[in-house]
Amino acid sequence: MTQWGDLFSQRQLLMLATLSRLTREIARKYEKKDAIFAEAVQVCMAITLSRGTDLNNSLCRWKQDAECPVNLFGRQAIPMVWDFAETVITSGSSGSWPIMFQRTYDSILPFLEIRNSGNSILTTATKQTLPDDVASLLATDPPYYDAIPYSHLSDFFYVFLKRILYESCPGLFSSKLVEKTEEIVVDRAHSLSTSNKGIPDENEGKVSSSSKQAVFAPGATVLDRVHQCMLLFAAGRSDALKRFLVDEDHGKDAKLWKLAQSLSALYPTGSNEKRWVDGVLARKKGLGF
Ligand SMILES: C[S@@+](CC[C@H](N)C(=O)[O-])C[C@H]1O[C@@H](n2cnc3c(N)ncnc32)[C@H](O)[C@@H]1O
Repeated sequence: MTQWGDLFSQRQLLMLATLSRLTREIARKYEKKDAIFAEAVQVCMAITLSRGTDLNNSLCRWKQDAECPVNLFGRQAIPMVWDFAETVITSGSSGSWPIMFQRTYDSILPFLEIRNSGNSILTTATKQTLPDDVASLLATDPPYYDAIPYSHLSDFFYVFLKRILYESCPGLFSSKLVEKTEEIVVDRAHSLSTSNKGIPDENEGKVSSSSKQAVFAPGATVLDRVHQCMLLFAAGRSDALKRFLVDEDHGKDAKLWKLAQSLSALYPTGSNEKRWVDGVLARKKGLGF
């Protein structure tokens, strides 16, 4: 498999492309009467179809005990498989349109109870626009070093979602594929990757210094800097951690240690995050802070 299209059989591509077109057309039908309702219908249908791609691709296995196809993403990876099962889209089996539609309906229903509204924006967390002291604590859930190639995996869903929603949500689908360079993960180098990021120690000499800076640049907020310490600790890079705290003076910032202490109290006992932040705190005295 070398291209995105290889993830689907020709028949599945035709079926998914046809459903994408019909989904756009349905929304247009309502547009003149009620634009907001039309957009809501389109988003719900797009979610349904997106779920459907997970169950209608060339890497779906056959589940013997349930006698139905199994979705590709049982974990955050695209694994090699040995068998192939294809759903008949008009049937009542897993991956068929009636079942996917029902699942979307069931999962959206509880949200109708929510009366509060919130705000969300699509932007990179590496460019913090809020002031540093806007809250006592900013909670975040960043990627862990190179554990999961989120943006590469997201492309699987992005292509069809963009096809359906580009007109109603242009801001969410402006790039050709999911943004890779801004993503704060370290990519393991492989021949098909176009990313300019890499693992500095392993790729010494191959990765440009600007891309190293992009991945390992000190963050804009105290929280970013604590996270950076945790990641360096987790990766066993104690010299780099010392450089960051001592040579680059970040360890002199009392707010960094205070926040690390708060996070230590917040993270569940036994979690990796607690182990990492405690590991950073344990080095405080030894480094002279
Ligand atoms: C550990 S996951 C968060 C999972 C999420 N909290 C949840 O429970 O579903 C890390 C997420 O950070 C996103 N991410 C990576 N780089 C980012 C960046 N520069 N700005 C914002 N988000 C980013 C990844 O795409 C991924 O979805």
